[in-house]
Amino acid sequence: MAATELNEIAKQMVAPGKGILAADESDGTIQKRFKSINVESTEENRRAYRQMLFTTQGAEEFVSGVILFDETIRQNGDDGTPLREVLTKKGILPGIKVDKGAKDLAGAPGEQVTEGLDGLRERLSEYRELGAKFTKWRAVIAIGEGLPSRYCIETNAHALARYAALSQDAGLVPIVEPEVLIDGSHSIEQCYEATEATLKEVYHQLFHHRVVLEGTVLKPNMVVSGKSAGKQAGSEQVAELTVKCLRNCVPAAVPGIVFLSGGLSEEVATAHLNAMNQIGPHPWELSFSYGRALQASALEAWKGEASNLQAGQEAFLHRAKMNGAARFGKYSDEMERGAA
Ligand code: 13P
Repeated sequence: MAATELNEIAKQMVAPGKGILAADESDGTIQKRFKSINVESTEENRRAYRQMLFTTQGAEEFVSGVILFDETIRQNGDDGTPLREVLTKKGILPGIKVDKGAKDLAGAPGEQVTEGLDGLRERLSEYRELGAKFTKWRAVIAIGEGLPSRYCIETNAHALARYAALSQDAGLVPIVEPEVLIDGSHSIEQCYEATEATLKEVYHQLFHHRVVLEGTVLKPNMVVSGKSAGKQAGSEQVAELTVKCLRNCVPAAVPGIVFLSGGLSEEVATAHLNAMNQIGPHPWELSFSYGRALQASALEAWKGEASNLQAGQEAFLHRAKMNGAARFGKYSDEMERGAA
């Protein structure tokens, strides 16, 4: 596919006022999420839950794309329409997680490398046939005593670049996701350092693998304090350091950056994004691709009951709308409470 077409898709993914829903939880992750509301993770429950999210009226105003899991791209809605078509009919782009998860990195205790390159070319061509427009690959980088190692950063960046090149070859826009984890008691400065080292290596590898940056989207962590650090940096500092880090690492040819929420609460994730968009303009769109921070209250409202469908959809639409406002730096407390 021509670079211009990949660029067109990438621009749609980060269209003003919109962001991406990450609904690509792997079997283990969705099981964990369902367990929190005492719902068994059966294929039918997963289908019903995701159908609820995808059929939310008005969500298309704030959601440009949805990242699906392999199972979901093959499932149908109640009326037999494939769930991926439920999305495309609303003008939402379907995407697909293509990595096979993070596994222990040999010789590097406490660190992981993401697998899934073997057979990827063939899998990508099937996903394209199924209608996917973009892909996602998540690498994880842990902060700890002496971590991250160069070895871990380089190995993950190399795999991300191989994935991105294969994805573009298949005509699919790669979401490149190097996630520096929030776990630990590290300072925001340590997070900055690890994120900067990671992003620099990622762009170095993308260049060597001949990836067309105009046809990519970056999905990074925000630069934040470790989850168990005593002092948590506020939105203003998070915005300042995250933007500084990105300006130092991400070429302006990249159309957009969509943050993961990584364990931040719904409102904190929205407030941080809002603060970043208030200190623009930036060389790229700054948007969201949250999993938990778009779904937590919807999951809680749904509780696995068909009768709670409307409550679940309202909660999801509210979060999507709040983050849509944060895309313009126009999110506020009144807005959060008013519509709640
Ligand atoms: P969270 O926003 O819950 O971190 O999920 C985003 C994601 O897609 C992680 O790969």
